[in-house]
Amino acid sequence: MVKKTFYVTTPIYYPNDIPHLGHAYTTIAADVIARWHKLHDFDVFFLTGTDEHGKKIEQAAEKKGKKPKTFVDSVVPAFKESWEKLNVKYDRFIRTTDKDHEQVVQVILSEAHKNGDIYEGSYEGNYCTACEAYYTEKDLIDGCCPVHKKTIEKLKEESYFFKLSKYQDKLLELYEKNPDFISPKSRRQEIINRVKEGLQDLSISRTSFSWGIPLPFDKNHVCYVWFDALTNYISGVGYLEDTKQFKKFWPANVHIIGKDILWFHSVIWPAILMSAKVELPKKVFAHGWWTVHNEKMGKSAGNAIKVDDLIAYAGVDAARYFLLRETAFGDDGDFSEKMLIERNNNELANKIGNLVSRVSTLAEKYGLEKKAKVSLNSEKTYEEVQEHMSKLAFDKALQSILKFVDEANEYAQKTEPWKTGDKKIIYELAFAIRDITILLSSFMPETAEKMSKVFNFEIDIKNLGKELRIKEIKKAPTIFQKVEIKEEQKEKVDKDKKVEGVMSLNNVKYEDFTKLDLRVGTIKEVEEIDGADKLYKLSVNVGEEKERTILAGIKQYYSKKDLKGKQVICIVNLEPRKMKGLVSEGMLLAAGDKENNTCVLISPEKNTKEGLRIS
Ligand code: MSP
Repeated sequence: MVKKTFYVTTPIYYPNDIPHLGHAYTTIAADVIARWHKLHDFDVFFLTGTDEHGKKIEQAAEKKGKKPKTFVDSVVPAFKESWEKLNVKYDRFIRTTDKDHEQVVQVILSEAHKNGDIYEGSYEGNYCTACEAYYTEKDLIDGCCPVHKKTIEKLKEESYFFKLSKYQDKLLELYEKNPDFISPKSRRQEIINRVKEGLQDLSISRTSFSWGIPLPFDKNHVCYVWFDALTNYISGVGYLEDTKQFKKFWPANVHIIGKDILWFHSVIWPAILMSAKVELPKKVFAHGWWTVHNEKMGKSAGNAIKVDDLIAYAGVDAARYFLLRETAFGDDGDFSEKMLIERNNNELANKIGNLVSRVSTLAEKYGLEKKAKVSLNSEKTYEEVQEHMSKLAFDKALQSILKFVDEANEYAQKTEPWKTGDKKIIYELAFAIRDITILLSSFMPETAEKMSKVFNFEIDIKNLGKELRIKEIKKAPTIFQKVEIKEEQKEKVDKDKKVEGVMSLNNVKYEDFTKLDLRVGTIKEVEEIDGADKLYKLSVNVGEEKERTILAGIKQYYSKKDLKGKQVICIVNLEPRKMKGLVSEGMLLAAGDKENNTCVLISPEKNTKEGLRIS
């Protein structure tokens, strides 16, 4: 039987700096997607690499007193090493200086030229070398690049243009017909609006420097670095060299990118392909950006988290787990080493590590005995994980798996096999560990490997829920090491928390408490908000003439049905807050614990009159 195929890519990174958290995030996500599909027996191709031409690289090389190629040759190994350390298994590492890639770029340029989409002109306008992007006057902020806030370069030079404007309607049709082409949904409309405003033709060549691919029809010009870079997605999978492979994998199933480069991928890239008459990728998924302790991460800020630092906190798998668990893929996230260590200690070491250690110790001592009907069934968990993975909701997939880990731990707690030595219970627990491991294996391959060795099974999705082979089990080595949080890390986090508005609870006076106006309310309506995966829009009767709109981040915990008609406690004298284009006029009281993913609304003990004050 022919296997189903899956092709996933990361952006190709500029090798003007060594890899950091931002690069690692995209690459780990793509690796998890690739592994998840391999686990399901897909024939997978995973492409990553480096974007080596252009002015930015030329300047970086100059600064080091090196020729561009010598310079990139010295930086590229750092990327390859980082991916190896992070256990990222790609199928090709493409460099835009690879001969086959350079050839493909020239072929695509020739095709577009032949099809009448490239014409000669002269470009006069603004260019930011850090972004390698052209900006209109309207885009600039105080004459500076909107991203780097640096003075912008005024360009005036001969240039060839690509007729991007010609593709406006075709692009809009593409978005219309393929609602998932731009994912997540929350980023789609902005692109559509901008395309509807009209597209300007794109300057695709430069004459003022030479570090790039020459245009096949005019060797005095080098190709614009983005035209060159985007083409990697087809050259990397054998557009010219290996047409069999190309046919097998193209169109790509998903290009994983950061939100900052969505325009290039969702507008310029499909237009280039349309012009060259090549099929379009199926999806472009833009993830959010990470800040570090609530500050923009960057070389100039001096706070970039290098890959080696990321690994040093609690190991490779904890880093991989943390990045995908901490924030929804698509949303922005904030990095703090304390949060990483806390998740390592509380979720990985305490929950998974303890379960493995406990069960392997018991298995060594008492052995296992088959049980026909196992109480710990992972079927539902698997369904949930599948569903979340199909949407690239990694955080939710991990939450579902951890919920199953909790179930196993609770089962052990309830049945106490360490007191009874009940071999059947030990079998059930080992059975659950096997299923947990298989489901976690794409996220934490090294750990999964260790666990499979201890409990003698193969990491194969087909083994999920199957009878466990009984073999002698030895006590497992420590799977996750707990890490102590250093003083300086605590300090940093206290600073973070202040930003989040957590106050110290000592010395609160009674008057402070009475400042809060808390009222009984009844939820009348519950609505979803476009593009928000955590928030509901609630209409709440708090005894006033008009119902209040309250935006509450409880969607993960309550269905609409659960909420409608429910009585809650509302804080009604908070300053209104704008979120997702709506105004929230209050908050609900809930007992919550982020670590354990718990959120329980507080309700009056029996139904009572709306507007009653809590005192
Ligand atoms: N060379 C281009 C991409 C060409 S793809 C055809 C480029 N390179 S980059 O090195 O600047 O960035 C690559 C990716 O790293 C982007 O997707 C970007 O979003 C990601 N990140 C860089 N910093 C980041 C954060 N602070 N947080 C999350 N991702 C970030 O752009």
